[in-house]
Amino acid sequence: MNEEYDFHFPKNFLWGASTSAHQVEGDNHNQWTQWEQKNAVRLAQEAPQKFPFLPEKLRQEATGPQNYISGKACDHFRRYREDFDLMKSLGMNAYRFSIEWSRIEPEKGVFDAEALRHYCEMIRELHTRNIEPLITLWHWTVPCWFFAAGDFTAENSAKLFARYTEYVLRGFQKEKLALKLFITLNEPEVYVANSYLRGEWPPQQRNFFAARKVRQNLLAAHHAAYEMIKSMVPEAQVGIAHALAYMEPYKHTFLNRMAAKIAEYFWNESFLRHTVHTEDFLGLNYYFRTLISWHGTKHDATRPRSDLNWELHPKGIEFLLRLLKKYEKPIYITENGLADYDDSRRGEYIEKVLAALARAIQAGVPVRGYLHWSLLDNFEWDKGFWARFGLIEIDHTKNLERRVRPSALKYAEIIRKGGVSGQQF
Ligand code: FCB
Repeated sequence: MNEEYDFHFPKNFLWGASTSAHQVEGDNHNQWTQWEQKNAVRLAQEAPQKFPFLPEKLRQEATGPQNYISGKACDHFRRYREDFDLMKSLGMNAYRFSIEWSRIEPEKGVFDAEALRHYCEMIRELHTRNIEPLITLWHWTVPCWFFAAGDFTAENSAKLFARYTEYVLRGFQKEKLALKLFITLNEPEVYVANSYLRGEWPPQQRNFFAARKVRQNLLAAHHAAYEMIKSMVPEAQVGIAHALAYMEPYKHTFLNRMAAKIAEYFWNESFLRHTVHTEDFLGLNYYFRTLISWHGTKHDATRPRSDLNWELHPKGIEFLLRLLKKYEKPIYITENGLADYDDSRRGEYIEKVLAALARAIQAGVPVRGYLHWSLLDNFEWDKGFWARFGLIEIDHTKNLERRVRPSALKYAEIIRKGGVSGQQF
């Protein structure tokens, strides 16, 4: 028998959505911009092989080089007020976005006050609408000069990151902006793996030693930025957005359980264990389940999947939250979502994830907010524009017109009620 449930989230729970600068702003100039120019044709050629499952409409987009150039992206840099109005109309009270380092410090040691003013203005516009900003300082993109000097392999990279952080924080202080929540780094583990081990993202290296260096320097960058922020704004809460996957042992055999424990340790917890003492809260980015067997990962063809072929497993988030409980830190879901171009799965997925959050909260996990990825359809890194993650659709054929998707209305309804209810927990 399924039990009825009716759960109300805590009163001050944060409900919102996330974006990152390079994926939505448009007209950026950083290491990704340079890489896109060089790799768009190759990525378009490789698409049919990499994504054989795509429906015709998306296949056409994925095989066009233009798909891989971020260009104007969502033009959020200019249209952010319009986007904030949409958020407000959906009842959101939180927004996670990132500051683009390459705008703030376009040349080494040369800071752009105008760029900083832009972000201050964004924050003011959020405050006016009672939307709490969660500010990410690094969401994978870096200035070209920093990248050319070795990116995070360089000895002084953490110091340079802390100097940029200090400049940004001073600007916020001068403008008397009251800010509570900062994220130093977005998914450092994913960056190390894709850029320095798998050779997929800029600078496309497969070099264990470089990867280890980048990991060490990202740890140092976090620590330095953490100290910097806390010394300037002692009441601020600072964390990292960690990418965690739900590692489930295939068929739960003994060997597979061991393998899943090892995978869980290396992927989910090894970075976290080094940073947790300098994190006031934990950010959790959750997207999929990985089925682990002792001789590799398995694919369960019976499970629903997103357009990116990621397995949709809403319950997995509860498992991860229970895993994080032992750290005794408040937790924000800093990203969770799916590529779903026709919006056929998003609404139900959100509902199920929120039911799983409710269960975790009832089990005593201190979850403080949920930020859906993403507010807008945006530029999905090496997949470009075809992977549509937005609660709000962006129409590239019609001057980047915004359209609120039905799933966003469903999310808005849950926010309005402040809870979830139904048949099956
Ligand atoms: C996360 C990234 C985010 C977005 C989503 C789909 O790993 O942090 O920028 O690309 O995946």
